[in-house]
Amino acid sequence: MKFQKLCVLGLGYIGLPTASTFATNGLEVVGVDVNEAVIATLKSGGLHIHEPGLRTLVSGAIQSGMLRVAAQPEPADAFIIAVPTPFYEDDKRADMRAVTSAAEAITPHLQKGNLVILESTSPPRTTVDLLAPILEKSGLKAGVDFHLAYSPERVLPGQILRELIENARVVGGITSESAQAGYDLYATFVRGNIIKTNSTTAEMVKLMENTTRDVNIAIANEFSRLADRFGVDVWEAISLANLHPRINILRPGPGVGGHCISVDPWFLVEAAPDLTPFIRTAREVNDAQPQFVVDLVKRALGSLEGKKIAALGLAYKPDVDDLRESPAVEVVHLLQDAGASVKAFEPFAPNAKLPNLTTVPALNEALEDADAVILLVAHSQFKSLDATEISEIMNGYVAVDVVNGWNVSVWKNAGFDILRLGVGG
Ligand SMILES: NC(=O)c1ccc[n+]([C@@H]2O[C@H](COP(=O)([O-])OP(=O)(O)OC[C@H]3O[C@@H](n4cnc5c(N)ncnc54)[C@H](O)[C@@H]3O)[C@@H](O)[C@H]2O)c1
Repeated sequence: MKFQKLCVLGLGYIGLPTASTFATNGLEVVGVDVNEAVIATLKSGGLHIHEPGLRTLVSGAIQSGMLRVAAQPEPADAFIIAVPTPFYEDDKRADMRAVTSAAEAITPHLQKGNLVILESTSPPRTTVDLLAPILEKSGLKAGVDFHLAYSPERVLPGQILRELIENARVVGGITSESAQAGYDLYATFVRGNIIKTNSTTAEMVKLMENTTRDVNIAIANEFSRLADRFGVDVWEAISLANLHPRINILRPGPGVGGHCISVDPWFLVEAAPDLTPFIRTAREVNDAQPQFVVDLVKRALGSLEGKKIAALGLAYKPDVDDLRESPAVEVVHLLQDAGASVKAFEPFAPNAKLPNLTTVPALNEALEDADAVILLVAHSQFKSLDATEISEIMNGYVAVDVVNGWNVSVWKNAGFDILRLGVGG
C-alpha cells in the first residue's frame, strides 16, 4: 500500500519524533495535539520536550513544508494515535480517555482504504474492543473498509530518533491485510525488522516487555534491602553475580518511574487480576522503595524533623527531563512528610513546578546550608561533582547515594559521612 498523507494524533515524546521522521522521509504529515500550548510552541519554532536531535529534526520538517501542526485531524491516508495512556491513581485502571477521544476525532474523517494505527500502550484487546467500535461509527467496517492495527513503541528516551529507525517493530493487524498495511507504512523509514502479527499479540508484547523490566528491577530492589540487612554491598554482589553467563541482575534504586514501566504492568493486573499475583507484588515492591530510601536517610541523619536536605535529581532516570511517575519526586514528598525541608535541583528541568515541592534552578541553591545531600538520579553531571567543593557550600557533612553514583572514598576524604542504598554497615 502507498501512503502520501499521514495524520499523527499526540505530539509528545512518541508522536512528535514519529511525525517528523515520516515528514523527512517524504510523507505529508499533519501533527495534531489537543494541547493549545503545544501547538503554539511548535508553530513559533519552539519545542516543548527535550530529546537529543529533535529540535533540528522538527524544524527541518516544518521548514520543508512536509510537517504541519494543527488542533484537529483532517482527511489522510493513514492515522497514527500516540496519545497518553496513564492510569487512574485510585484503582490503577488504564485511563483510555485520550485514546477514545483521539479515535472519535478521526472517525468523521475516515475514508475507505484508510489505515489507523494505535501506538499508545494499551490493555490487551483495546484495538478490537475499544478502537474498532468507535471508528466503525463512521459507517465503515474495520478490517473490511479500512485497515486497523496496533504497533507498540519501544524507543528509549534519550535515543528516540535513532531507535525509531533501527529498532525491530511489531505490527499487529486486526486482519492480515491490516498488518500488511501497517508494515508498508513503517517501511517508509524503519530499518529494523518489521514483524507482522495480530493486534492483541502486539498489545501483549509491549506489556510483557515492560512488565519483565519491572519485575527484574523489583528483585534488584529487594536484593538491596537484603544486602542492607546482612552487611553486604549489593553493588559488588550484583557485579559478581552478573559474571555468571546467564545472570543479568538490574540496578536497584529509589523505585521505578516514567510513563511506561511503572504503569504498564497494572494494565495486565487490571485485565486479569486472578492471573497476576506476581506482577502485582513486583509493582508493590517497587512502589515501596521510596520509603526504604527515606528510612535510609533517616538513619543517616538521626531524625528528619527540621533537617535541610538537598535532593539531586527528580527525573525518573539519568540524563532525561521526564519527571512522570518519578520515584525521586516521591522520595522528596516522603522526606517532607517526615518533617524535612527539601530543596530539589533537576538540571534537565531546572524550572519545573511540581505540587508541594520546592525546586531550585541552580545546584548551589539546593546545597546552601543543607544538612545532607541525597543523590537520587545518576545524571552524568552529578556523578562528576566535586565533593570538596560541595562540602564548602553545605552546613552538614552527610551524603546519601541511592544510585551508586559517587566514589565512597572520595566523598569520605572530603569529610562526608556517606551512606549508600543497599550497603549494610
Ligand atoms: N515516552 C516513551 O518513552 C514511550 C515509550 C513507549 C511507549 N509510550 C507510549 O506512547 C504513548 C504516548 O506517550 P508519550 O510519552 O508520547 O506521551 P506525551 O504525554 O509525551 O504526549 C502525548 C501528547 O498527546 C496529546 N494528546 C492527548 N490527548 C490527545 C488527543 N485526544 N488528540 C491529540 N493529542 C492528544 C497530549 O497533549 C500530549 O502532547 C503512551 O501510551 C505511552 O505509554 C511512550
